[in-house]
Amino acid sequence: MPPAATSKITTPVLRQRKGSGDKIVSVTAYDVTFARLADRAGVDIVLVGDSLGMVFQGQGSTIPVTLDEMIYHCRAAVRGVARAHVVGDLPFMSYQASLEDGVRSAGRLMKEGGVESVKLEGGVECAELIRRLVAVGIPVMGHVGLTPQSLHQLGGFKVQGRSEDEARRIRAGADAVAQAGAYAIVLEGIPGALAGEITRTVPIPTIGIGAGPSCDGQVLVMHDLLGLDPGWAPRFVRRYAEIGNEVERAFAAYAADVRSGQFPGPDESYS
Ligand code: KIV
Repeated sequence: MPPAATSKITTPVLRQRKGSGDKIVSVTAYDVTFARLADRAGVDIVLVGDSLGMVFQGQGSTIPVTLDEMIYHCRAAVRGVARAHVVGDLPFMSYQASLEDGVRSAGRLMKEGGVESVKLEGGVECAELIRRLVAVGIPVMGHVGLTPQSLHQLGGFKVQGRSEDEARRIRAGADAVAQAGAYAIVLEGIPGALAGEITRTVPIPTIGIGAGPSCDGQVLVMHDLLGLDPGWAPRFVRRYAEIGNEVERAFAAYAADVRSGQFPGPDESYS
């Protein structure tokens, strides 16, 4: 049975979870059906991630995703959610060129997409924008470590923060994001010890993905945890289902029934 899905999860509720031992559970969703299932299951945060560029659109990275595409998916996902907090990702180049771009893009994601907060990637360089957004009433979730929008600068989807220089940069980024007023921060693809250190230091909840067990919460891409792509199994993912195989089996059974004339049968036809 899912936990009692009664009171709405808000950013103050999420902040209060910091250090409480009550872990924050987040999963991505990109449409109404899966957002509804996640919400019913008692997930705390539904993240409409720009990972949709890879798992939904089939692109090689999140870089091509546009703000209009994010708004479209956010609008669909929010319709399925009653209790969870819904976060929308600001896609690449919707906030990097200027503060004004960032404020307008975040405003559109909330106003047209219907999300309750926005997530953006980056550390120290994003602090000023986060301050502005928070000042105009837009809650922000930060994201440091392996930041997929910087894929080409990072040299691939690689664990970050293994060298002392990188670790220092990530720590400084997390501090800056927290001080600028973000209500939570995603730590992606960093060693568990570094994530633990940041989690103990920053005053806001940390939400890990490939960042070990010490974070205040965890997030996974729904396609990964559901096994929707049977060929994809990175180390940091635990697969809780093999839906991809099951869907393929169902499609094949349907095709066989149509071809053999067994579907539709008398019960599936009108007199
Ligand atoms: O885009 C996304 O889904 C994300 C999560 C992996 C944290 O940013």
